[in-house]
Amino acid sequence: MQDTLNALLAKAPAELAALKSRAEFEAAKARYVGPNGEFTALMKQLGTVPKEQRPVMGKLINEAKGQLQAQLDATLARIADAEIAAQLGPAVDPTLPSPDAGPGTYHPLTQVREEMCRIMRKAGFTVVEGPEVETEYYCFDALNTAPDHPARDAQDTFYFPEAARFGNVSRKVDGEKYLLRTHTSSVQIRTMLKGQPPIRVISPGRVYRRDTTDATHSANFHQLEGLYVDKNVTVRDLKAMLDYIFASLLGKGTTTRFRPHYFSYTEPSFEVDLSAKHLPKVNKEWIEIGGCGMVDPAVFEAVGYDPNVWSGYAFGMGLERLAMLVYGIDDIRYFYQNDVRFLKQFA
Ligand code: DAH
Repeated sequence: MQDTLNALLAKAPAELAALKSRAEFEAAKARYVGPNGEFTALMKQLGTVPKEQRPVMGKLINEAKGQLQAQLDATLARIADAEIAAQLGPAVDPTLPSPDAGPGTYHPLTQVREEMCRIMRKAGFTVVEGPEVETEYYCFDALNTAPDHPARDAQDTFYFPEAARFGNVSRKVDGEKYLLRTHTSSVQIRTMLKGQPPIRVISPGRVYRRDTTDATHSANFHQLEGLYVDKNVTVRDLKAMLDYIFASLLGKGTTTRFRPHYFSYTEPSFEVDLSAKHLPKVNKEWIEIGGCGMVDPAVFEAVGYDPNVWSGYAFGMGLERLAMLVYGIDDIRYFYQNDVRFLKQFA
């Protein structure tokens, strides 16, 4: 019996060391200490050992049992560790910089804005910026917009509370209200107040209106403003410039037409439609794209230019609408959802 016991203890370490999974472990454990196990069988034999040998054999068996149990525990711990290591994967060095996400891409609105700036720079225009927080003077009054004009209504325009202060946005009139600009035309005034003509500027930027969001409306969107002031500027110059802009952006087949309209800061004023049937997804003959006109003498007077000397044109258009035409996008909300699957298509 003692020989059997020694043989069993001798083979156990190698066998246990070869076990790889919990299932293998459970099977091996059953072979040793299960109800029908080899070790269990030896314990049962103790009853057949002569009485005087029993204490010695009992002691040996107990020691062997202790050793075997320790080996089983160690084996289970080793297998459990290996399981966790497999779940965790390769070791990570947390002191290394995080993996490079790869180069980003430009948002389609940024791409169209930059393309428009390139086109206008070629025609001698410089790019200027104005604040998104504006005052009533720059957004409306200096642009000859009457105090009761519907565009100024709190239904259409986001006004700040009377107590709001913006140290970096200059007010022209004491106590006038701050608002979120409803168009980029306010930059015309800020530009003209800074210096004398000739002026050729464009100003792209974000504008805000109290609109309910749907496929073609958003409470914030982007415009591109243009202002040209010089001597003897005519409607022909304006029309030729808009033809050049849209043919450059959308292709040679693009044409424009003017429809008479009213804007308080231009006289005469027009809405601009363009025809670009060569573009995919364009199923209308004429698409409204912006407004324009000859700078109203009242605006020149507001900024201290002599309307008898200076003349000029101005225009404004929506960048989202242009980008939708260029890329065949049919819902304005895609621009703001930051869905990478959408954005990647314009990489
Ligand atoms: N500000 C106008 C708008 O938001 C667009 C516009 C019309 C701009 C005529 C101009 C202009 O500069 O002359 O709808």
